[in-house]
Amino acid sequence: MLTWDEEVKPSSQKPLDGGSLQNRQEAQPPLPVQAPALQPVSPSASAHAVPAAAAQQRRVNAADKRIINGQTDVNQLVPFKYKWAWEKYLATCANHWMPQEVNMTRDIALWKDPNGLSEDERRIIKRNLGFFVTADSLAANNIVLGTYRHITAPECRQFLLRQAFEEAIHTHAYQYIVESLGLDEGEIFNAYNEVASIRDKDEFLIPFIDAIMNPDFKTGTPENDQTLLKSLIVFACLMEGLFFYVGFTQILALGRQNKMTGAAEQYQYILRDESMHCNFGIDLINQLKLENPHLWTAEFKAEIKALFLKAVELEYRYAEDTMPRGVLGLNASMFKGYLRYIANRRATQIGLEALFPNEENPFPWMSEMIDLKKERNFFETRVIEYQSGGALSWD
Ligand SMILES: [Fe+2]
Ligand SMILES: [Fe+2]
Repeated sequence: MLTWDEEVKPSSQKPLDGGSLQNRQEAQPPLPVQAPALQPVSPSASAHAVPAAAAQQRRVNAADKRIINGQTDVNQLVPFKYKWAWEKYLATCANHWMPQEVNMTRDIALWKDPNGLSEDERRIIKRNLGFFVTADSLAANNIVLGTYRHITAPECRQFLLRQAFEEAIHTHAYQYIVESLGLDEGEIFNAYNEVASIRDKDEFLIPFIDAIMNPDFKTGTPENDQTLLKSLIVFACLMEGLFFYVGFTQILALGRQNKMTGAAEQYQYILRDESMHCNFGIDLINQLKLENPHLWTAEFKAEIKALFLKAVELEYRYAEDTMPRGVLGLNASMFKGYLRYIANRRATQIGLEALFPNEENPFPWMSEMIDLKKERNFFETRVIEYQSGGALSWD
């Protein structure tokens, strides 16, 4: 059994972070806490109390918090420094939904009706699900196994925990659509290996996940901090902020023609979540830049610009593959302008110049879809209600 002396010996003091944050325990110097000189302590106080002065010095000062490479205790959510992250966490919780709440009856009838949908419309739906059934698992793994451990701001970690659950809900939603329509699960869930336009997008993303998931990867050097920043940019701006948009537009265009309205409603909830993820990611990137301006070099910006151009090209190829002909009032070439318009927006949101000046949005209705407050109350269509705390029975 440890004696008091052994427990509080200055050399053995470790931050109370449960061992989860490698940055603080391994890559970072010890906390700048002046350990108190050991005083004789009365036996009654020894079991429970830490000397008051030492405890005071360990208290988190909001000004000391950092997005990466922070030294403050990640278990202490407050005092808040990054209020924007907490507010976004609250907003995502207020948007909670579950896939089974959406009525899929009309979609099932339309899919089973041999004359219900054209072959091109069916192709769009299958390709869409082929990309998305695995995309959100990639996003979830990227957060849980990669990003989370490198972020030292607890407010941002709180958002990431919520985001990870939402990615699980999205994977659930796509699976629920596949199951409801009775699609070939083997075909849909393997599309990311078997359909070139989908595989190419995933192969673009995976190196950025692998880099930060590597157990040996730690932030703390300019090079590694740039690797993390690049990964955050690829995920927020290019995956959630660009690679999702051809697919979302196509399914919402079906919904606007009163087809696959259940799937379209699910996608609308997902789009709302994703635009929040994208906005949070952009805030995170900009805060990280603000705290680490030395990372934002000319070479780094040139590298990011090249990644943007590659992502636009890949997403455009996906648009061509999913729409070999015009369908639903859409065609692939309209997406060239749309993707350039979105890429400009993402680039300027993180402080880069627009890549394709003067592009206009060919789908202004998508902007309205993203701002759902202007639309009807989508929760009117819910088919079940949440069991709230007040409804629980102890019998
Ligand atoms: Fe998602
Ligand atoms: Fe997301």
